[in-house]
Amino acid sequence: MKASETKILIVDDEPTVIAMFSVWLRKQELTCYSADSVVEAMAILKEHHVDLVITDIFMPGATGVDLLKWCKQTEREIPFIFITGTLDAEFVTQALNLGAKHLLPKPVTRNELVELVQEQIALIETDEKKREDDNQIKSELSDVRKKYIDEVAEKEVLFMAVIDSLAQAVSARDSYTHNHNRSVADYAVKVGMAMGLEEDVLTKLHIAGRLHDIGKIGVPEAILQKNGPLTDEEYDMMKQHPAVGSDILRTLPNFEDILDIVLYHHERYDGYGYPRGLVGEDIPLLARITAVCDAWDAMTSDRVYRKKLPVKEARKRIIEGAGTQLDAKVVKVFLTVIE
Ligand SMILES: [Fe+2]
Repeated sequence: MKASETKILIVDDEPTVIAMFSVWLRKQELTCYSADSVVEAMAILKEHHVDLVITDIFMPGATGVDLLKWCKQTEREIPFIFITGTLDAEFVTQALNLGAKHLLPKPVTRNELVELVQEQIALIETDEKKREDDNQIKSELSDVRKKYIDEVAEKEVLFMAVIDSLAQAVSARDSYTHNHNRSVADYAVKVGMAMGLEEDVLTKLHIAGRLHDIGKIGVPEAILQKNGPLTDEEYDMMKQHPAVGSDILRTLPNFEDILDIVLYHHERYDGYGYPRGLVGEDIPLLARITAVCDAWDAMTSDRVYRKKLPVKEARKRIIEGAGTQLDAKVVKVFLTVIE
């Protein structure tokens, strides 16, 4: 800030003081405004930017301390230098409590005033520089953050497109699977929401719902499309799909929970499921949720080997499966979701 850009307001009811101070400060190439009362000072402060106020304390009408109070109330953070003939303790305390920078007793010499004003200007410049640096840092941080958010959003879109392509690869071989994957994903997210799960967990449920049968890509089409019961050998092949699916997805980063859902979605609560025969809560919660949604959608969709069950019958079977095939706590929540 150039000296001439620094604006000082001198407030005093004695014209000689104003004239003297103005001459001293203008010689320093500072810009000076003057007011002979607090009311006039307020009018100037409303109209102009002022960097520093030099004011008498006692003047007819309002005091210099009143002017400082008004500045605080109107959020004008301007440093004040007070000039006073009498050091009234009450006013001095009030002024200092309000953040007055200095109190100069009258008579004020030229050197005293100029030195003090220069000191204040240096402080103002330091503050201004700090504010500019802070703003610069804030603006740079905001740019970096925006770029990061954009990049993450772009990666998420790309990632979901890859997930969809993978899901599509399965449904190209088995038309049932396409809608089934979407339905399981939707139900699983609704159950997760009803259970109060966090948003990142719901995302995992959604992705796993779309991909839980990805391993069917390794099951011959003749078995997938077979219009009738599977032989033991065929059923054994079908039972490979959770393990095949989790192997396919194993290389994806941060997919551990999703792999668990894919691998364990055919486990049964009573331990008679596959591939591991896990029992009860040893089966990950997200896999237990997906199992209920999977069972429901399988029963309420047409398959090549049978027609879909009426909703009432499917509901009855889900309730019958609670505690044996399915986790009863998840079934309870699921029933509220389908209501
Ligand atoms: Fe499955």
